[in-house]
Amino acid sequence: MKVKINNKTENYRSVWFEPESGIINAINQTILPDKFEITELKTYTETAEAIKTMIVRGAPAIGVTAGFGIAQACMHAPKQNFTDYLKKAAETLKSTRPTAVDLFHVIDGLLNKIKDSDAIENKENAVEISVSESQKIANETINACKKIGEFGNELLKNKSKILTHCNAGALACVDFGTALSPLRIAKYAGKEIFVFVDETRPRFQGAKLTAWELLNEEIEHKIIADNAAGYFMQKGEIDLCIVGADRITANGDVANKIGTYEKAVLAKENNIPFYVAAPISTIDFSIKSGNEIPIEERNEDEVLSVNNIRIAPIGSHALNPAFDVTPAKYITGIITEIGIFKPEEIYKLKDN
Ligand code: MRU
Repeated sequence: MKVKINNKTENYRSVWFEPESGIINAINQTILPDKFEITELKTYTETAEAIKTMIVRGAPAIGVTAGFGIAQACMHAPKQNFTDYLKKAAETLKSTRPTAVDLFHVIDGLLNKIKDSDAIENKENAVEISVSESQKIANETINACKKIGEFGNELLKNKSKILTHCNAGALACVDFGTALSPLRIAKYAGKEIFVFVDETRPRFQGAKLTAWELLNEEIEHKIIADNAAGYFMQKGEIDLCIVGADRITANGDVANKIGTYEKAVLAKENNIPFYVAAPISTIDFSIKSGNEIPIEERNEDEVLSVNNIRIAPIGSHALNPAFDVTPAKYITGIITEIGIFKPEEIYKLKDN
């Protein structure tokens, strides 16, 4: 992704791994857009903490980072206790955030690869497999996101006005993004587009992160309060919506950042197409419908305070579900790396 620092444009991934040192580097997403800082994660416990505290966030980036965390665990595990150490690391990494399924897919996939090759008996083999496979997952994630961008770009016309919610950009996906990838590709193709950016309370991923990415890419946009989307839809100012996903179930229901559901309902009411952009790795074929998806509840302080300044009266409490589920009937299409599908077709992608 393009990052403008001191009038210079540089290219970054949101997270990357240095196998020689065993260090994961991650753009610290908790302090953007005020500060651009790379956080070094030296052990799998530091990596798990970074996922939990959202230094790294967004479904695909969480998965990729957890994969690097497994590689760190293989590198640091004592030879004698290798299996137990790795099991503990996998449990710790899995316990960070419950909703984004990429986390579980990547960890289980890596553990299976290590087991299949008998590397579990041989630390050196396990290190080699986990390092090369986790790097491969990062590269595959980027390629999938680029393809999503190419398919999604076909939905965009010159002057299209798009609404997006939360941050499903390069920060959330190592590079390109899911929902933001079509916007990047459209811009590179010379289209003029305009983006309505939902601020995305309580953590403001829209106002802080999506706006920062769009600014770096010089894509025209304005931030709107979360409760303003209906107003602009009614006025005919939004041509289509594109959001990301944390978990898609076999029937095409989609868990994404809290507030996505109400935007989808409003879009249907106003005859506006509502698209979800996600790689196939975000589909959980083991779950039939959205009501089985575990929804993360985060600390009430995120709602009661803004940038650590309390806005609610002392004594009031808050509820803070981090995600909601949009039923398939509100979704026009799901943009994947192999094409755009109706939600009811999603179950057919199982063997891809
Ligand atoms: O809580 P977050 O910031 O990790 O939630 C992120 C989202 O809801 C994104 O829309 C989703 O992970 C898709 S990212 C490509």
